[in-house]
Amino acid sequence: MTKVLITGATGLLGRALFRVFSQQDFCVTGTGFSRAKAPIKQIDLTNKDNVTELLNTIEPDIIIHAAAERKPDMCENNKAHTKALNLAVTEHLAIEAKRLNARLFFISTDYVFDGTTPPYFEASTPNPLNFYGETKVLGEQCVLSVSANHTVIRVPVLYGDVETLSESAITTITEQVHTNPISKHDNWAVRYPTHVEDIAKTLVDLANLPSSETTGIFHVSDHQAYTKFQIATLTASLLNLDKSGVTPINEPSQSANRPHNCALKDTRLSALNIHHSRPFSEAFANIVKTHLDH
Ligand SMILES: NC(=O)c1ccc[n+]([C@@H]2O[C@H](COP(=O)([O-])OP(=O)(O)OC[C@H]3O[C@@H](n4cnc5c(N)ncnc54)[C@H](OP(=O)(O)O)[C@@H]3O)[C@@H](O)[C@H]2O)c1
Repeated sequence: MTKVLITGATGLLGRALFRVFSQQDFCVTGTGFSRAKAPIKQIDLTNKDNVTELLNTIEPDIIIHAAAERKPDMCENNKAHTKALNLAVTEHLAIEAKRLNARLFFISTDYVFDGTTPPYFEASTPNPLNFYGETKVLGEQCVLSVSANHTVIRVPVLYGDVETLSESAITTITEQVHTNPISKHDNWAVRYPTHVEDIAKTLVDLANLPSSETTGIFHVSDHQAYTKFQIATLTASLLNLDKSGVTPINEPSQSANRPHNCALKDTRLSALNIHHSRPFSEAFANIVKTHLDH
């Protein structure tokens, strides 16, 4: 049975990866840090010796590296920590995966692009606007230069089965609208919310292909465009609230620079006929219902 190691398996994407791969014909090990509890193994990935020891014990065939510092403002304010986790850990895993003859899938982001000339193809040139994006571009370059068997997976903003509404940039909007009758939301940046389970199913499909077909960069993205303001308006109608309390901010407003529109073209997945997506408004409504129906 193919042995898969998933880092960040306590996170939003990692939990879905762990669940979906465990339901298939894979022997799965997941790692987490502050939230790890059995069966997830607790490890600080910035400790190289411990990582090497774990890898030698598991001898994975595939590593999916989802652990990261992914909040742009946090990255900007804590550069040393961000570099250690997003770059040094990635480099170590890429080298170790090669030593063990394992394939590495490195989860990256649409924030490697500047958002000025969408859509972006797998071969488009990155030009990150913030430190988070910079560390991810460097991680990508490192992964691809270490082994031709490694793969970069770029994804946009994620949503799914959150532990709390504040866990995802998408569902945190729901919390804001729910708690404040009057709230303002960004209406400038165009986002493509993608369900973590669809990304996990895509990765299962890629893992089942020979490594010769999955080298290089893949884009995995849903194509339904929303601004945060539009999601706030959707939330207000789902909660039967007065929509006039929800107002748009039509200029860029957050502290770390955000790109305007990083639409990702998934030409390589299309060529392989791999498509996993779902209607955003329905999936989002189900999540809101789960968290706010008392
Ligand atoms: N979320 C998004 O909207 C989004 C958008 C584009 C790309 N991405 C990328 O997708 C991937 C997954 O994102 P996510 O939203 O699932 O992230 P997340 O929910 O913030 O989870 C981060 C994971 O990294 C783990 N981690 C943090 N520091 C660690 C350390 N020192 N040692 C070991 N593990 C550590 C966390 O463990 P504990 O929680 O147990 O401490 C957690 O499992 C990331 O690579 C991210 O850059 C995310």
